[in-house]
Amino acid sequence: MKRLFGHPFTQGAVVLVVGFFIFEYLIGYILPLFGVSSAPVPRSVVFQYMLTVLVGVLLYMSAEEERWAAFREPIQRTMVDRDKRGLRGVLMVAIPALIGWLAYENVKPSYGAPATLRSVHPAPPNQITFRGQTMELTGLENPLRHEGSLEEHMAVGRAIYTRNCVPCHGDRLDGDGHFSAAFNPIPADFTAPGTLPQLTESYVFWRVAKGGPGLPQEGTPWDSAMPAWEPFLEENEIWATIIYLYEQAGVTPRTWEEEGEEGGEH
Ligand code: HEC
Repeated sequence: MKRLFGHPFTQGAVVLVVGFFIFEYLIGYILPLFGVSSAPVPRSVVFQYMLTVLVGVLLYMSAEEERWAAFREPIQRTMVDRDKRGLRGVLMVAIPALIGWLAYENVKPSYGAPATLRSVHPAPPNQITFRGQTMELTGLENPLRHEGSLEEHMAVGRAIYTRNCVPCHGDRLDGDGHFSAAFNPIPADFTAPGTLPQLTESYVFWRVAKGGPGLPQEGTPWDSAMPAWEPFLEENEIWATIIYLYEQAGVTPRTWEEEGEEGGEH
């Protein structure tokens, strides 16, 4: 036992294992249990620290000719000795398999919820640029409510909804389209009391125009699949779709008076 722990190779291995334990578990998970404030170290940083430790170990080991020879000895023996063929064979399979597994774990898509919470209705910007034009969102009403006929707008909106939104938001507007199960977060359910009636039409315009990519920081890091429709739909087409959504869901939009009373909270 004493010989084993006195051996430079074992010492080097122990330093690496202890280092990994400190960076991966002690700092992030064990210290907080004792009231020390700290956070888990990100994988990439642990990797960098471990590289530093490895370089340190190799420097120390190679600083003295004798120690370096002793350190290398077990590695050399495993690689060339006849009686180590079995172990060699196992390592030749195990090491590539381990690296393959690590690479797989790294690229495998994860469906777990991100560690941070997502704000479903983040505060909208006061103004946006839509197709190169500045639009003031605060106080903005749906202009189509005061022009043309409701039937006309409904027809335009219905056609756009059927063509573009049904696959995700569903025929019944309940967020249950054919593709919906593939997304996290799931497509919005327009029949839920927490969506359309709680939102001003200008808010909905912003979300349709800018989609998931236009969400502010608090709406991420959940990657919303909601497309930005600005490149495909004209301003009035979006307003008509919004009329269709509200009429079809049988609800009325939140007004700017209500918005003012509650301090613009979404
Ligand atoms: C590829 C799937 C997909 C398509 C197609 C799609 N959406 Fe979405 N939509 C989503 C997802 C997912 C969310 C929820 C995440 C978010 O808020 O960005 C969402 C959210 C929304 C919201 C925000 C609702 C709220 O409560 O804040 C609106 C409004 C919306 N979609 C309208 C539309 C309209 C209108 C169309 C068609 C022109 C459309 N979407 C097409 C996936 C989609």
